[in-house]
Amino acid sequence: MPQDTARIEAVMTAAPVIPVLIVEDPAAAVPMAQALVRGGLPAIEITLRTPRALEAIKAVADNVEGAIPGAGTVLDAAQYEAAVKAGAKFIVSPGATPKLLDAAENFDVPLLPGAATSSEVMALIERGYLRLKFFPAEQAGGASYLKSLSSPLAQVKFCPTGGITLEKAPSYLSLPNVLCVGGSWIADAKAIASGDWAGIEARAREAAAIKG
Ligand code: 3PG
Repeated sequence: MPQDTARIEAVMTAAPVIPVLIVEDPAAAVPMAQALVRGGLPAIEITLRTPRALEAIKAVADNVEGAIPGAGTVLDAAQYEAAVKAGAKFIVSPGATPKLLDAAENFDVPLLPGAATSSEVMALIERGYLRLKFFPAEQAGGASYLKSLSSPLAQVKFCPTGGITLEKAPSYLSLPNVLCVGGSWIADAKAIASGDWAGIEARAREAAAIKG
């Protein structure tokens, strides 16, 4: 089954930025997500890099009106299933493997898989994926690299992620093959752990206003 392009594109176009989040304490997830939604960033990616990340996703899914919680750093079928059960509305992976793509076909929750080279992108096109994460964006070659994929691989649109800041985001968002960017700068682990909801909301508001 090919990727549901319309559904993943709805997530990618909800705002110019998808915050990438590392949440240790699920109790922080609700006020964090509320601050992000207030600031204008409804689609949020909670990475499965902490022991209680699934609880954080569930807390947001159950309690935060207007949020579109997703699970990031999903590496295998078991994590995919657990994220869907927790209430994730989209799934993000830094790359793609045949096993992960097979797993995605079992669930009614769309996958945004990662790619960094033409061959990786072409392999995903073969599997029916036209909306991808470009990771790690800055380290793999940045906006000029991604721009060079836009002519030969014009049907593919990306969410670049990795090393992107408020200052760097516009150079990606102005590309014809970019729908949004991802980044941790809006709500890094320290801001979340210290409960800096006002700061997170302010950075979200700034990010939501970025023009390409
Ligand atoms: C990640 O997977 O950590 C994301 O790509 C976020 O990267 P960043 O912390 O460089 O924004």
